[in-house]
Amino acid sequence: MDATQQGPLDSLEQWDDHVKARYRADRKKEEFRVYDESTPPVVREFYRQNHALQTYDFACAKLAEYVPLRHGRMGIWEAMERLNELVDDSDPDTDLSQIEHNLQTAEAIRAAGHPGWFQLTGLIHDLGKVLTIWGEPQWAVVGDTFPTGCAWSNRIVFPEFFAANPDAAKPELQTACGVYQPGGGLDQVRMSWGHDEYLYHVTKAYLPEPARYMIRYHSWYSAHRERDYGYLMTPHDEAMMEWVRTFNPFDLYSKSDSKPSLAALRPYYTDLINEYFPEKIDW
Ligand SMILES: [Fe+2]
Ligand SMILES: [Fe+2]
Repeated sequence: MDATQQGPLDSLEQWDDHVKARYRADRKKEEFRVYDESTPPVVREFYRQNHALQTYDFACAKLAEYVPLRHGRMGIWEAMERLNELVDDSDPDTDLSQIEHNLQTAEAIRAAGHPGWFQLTGLIHDLGKVLTIWGEPQWAVVGDTFPTGCAWSNRIVFPEFFAANPDAAKPELQTACGVYQPGGGLDQVRMSWGHDEYLYHVTKAYLPEPARYMIRYHSWYSAHRERDYGYLMTPHDEAMMEWVRTFNPFDLYSKSDSKPSLAALRPYYTDLINEYFPEKIDW
């Protein structure tokens, strides 16, 4: 079995495509929170696994496992190429490779006149999906993210699937703030484990703070889109979440018909990468 197919999705891209369909289309807010006929059964199955298995203990254990960053040293471009191979191998029908999604996101940010660090964030924001290389199943790599260790927002997609999560039977984890201090700040909050949280830790030493928020919380739709979970945030977190909101449309809408020319763009983005990152970083 291909490395990216450890789960029901045909490829990791199927989740991204579903997110785009869910949040881009002009749908009423209630509609996308429940299963309907337009949701492919494999996507529903993906969320069933994700919501049942992403517990507070799991999120803590994965953080402890990965955050020493001892899975190897790789350059940014090298990570992009490895991810591209993984995803494209698993999905022969994909019309947009991972590198193209990365480049289109970065190019859209550049065209809007945003600075280099913001463009770079667009380029790298999904590189945490390399978790797949080390055997992580789909439900621990992609999916809308959410805080663990406290009550789940009912604005998370498919909230009914949380009934199967062992944390549902732990009353101390089912209050609004759970194990956290009210307003104690997002840094204390163990988000569900996936490519966002992982890449944040890999890149945090090299990027400005708004970029760190964009990377860490770009899949947290119940906060950046639904504006839930404010009770966990400091005023500074609330202000920084505005950057995540500024970033989100570039992630959702950057798919264009014209494919970006890798050969033409590579020198520009190589320079940008080199401006912020050393040749190799720890993963
Ligand atoms: Fe992502
Ligand atoms: Fe993305």
